[in-house]
Amino acid sequence: MENSHEAKSMRASRIQLAQMMMPEHANLHGNVHGGWIMKLVDEAGALASTRHAAHRTVTVAIDRMVFHHPIHIGDLVFINAEVTFAGHTSMEVEVSVTAEEPITGKQVHTNTAYLVYVAIDDLGNPA
Ligand SMILES: CC(C)(COP(=O)(O)OP(=O)(O)OC[C@H]1O[C@@H](n2cnc3c(N)ncnc32)[C@H](O)[C@@H]1OP(=O)(O)O)[C@@H](O)C(=O)NCCC(=O)NCCS
Repeated sequence: MENSHEAKSMRASRIQLAQMMMPEHANLHGNVHGGWIMKLVDEAGALASTRHAAHRTVTVAIDRMVFHHPIHIGDLVFINAEVTFAGHTSMEVEVSVTAEEPITGKQVHTNTAYLVYVAIDDLGNPA
C-alpha cells in the first residue's frame, strides 16, 4: 500500500506537452517566436511542479533559458519537464524542448531551461 509520508519520486512529476507550430507562432524571420516557446516552457514547468507539489504553483524565477537552434513553422514541438530539486515550498524544474520535422522524423534538441516555482495556498502564500 502506498504510504503518503513516503518521499515522492521526482520522476513522477515528469510531463510531456506536444504542439504543432503554426504560422501564427512565427516571428519576423519566419521561424517560431522565442516568446511562444517560453510560454510553452513555463506551462510545462508549472504542470510538473503542480504535479509534484499537489498544489497550485507560481513561477518565481527563470534561472536559465537557452535557444540552441531555431524551430520552424510546421515542426512538431515536444516540451519535457521534470522537477530536479525540491526545497521547502520551492521547486526547480528542468525543461527540455525538441523539434521534430514530421515528414522526415528528424529531431533536434532546441532548448534547455531551468525555472523555479513556489507552491502557494489559497491566499497566495508559500505553502
Ligand atoms: C512566489 C511568492 C509567493 C513567494 O513569496 P515570498 O514572500 O518571496 O516567499 P518566501 O520568501 O517565503 O520564499 C518562498 C520560497 O521561494 C524561494 N524563492 C523566493 N524568491 C526566489 C527567487 N527569486 N529565486 C529562487 N527561489 C526563490 C525561497 O527560497 C523559498 O524557497 P523554500 O520554501 O523552498 O525554502 C511571491 O514572490 C509571488 O507571489 N510572486 C509572484 C508570482 C507570479 O505572479 N508569477 C507569475 C505568474 S505564475
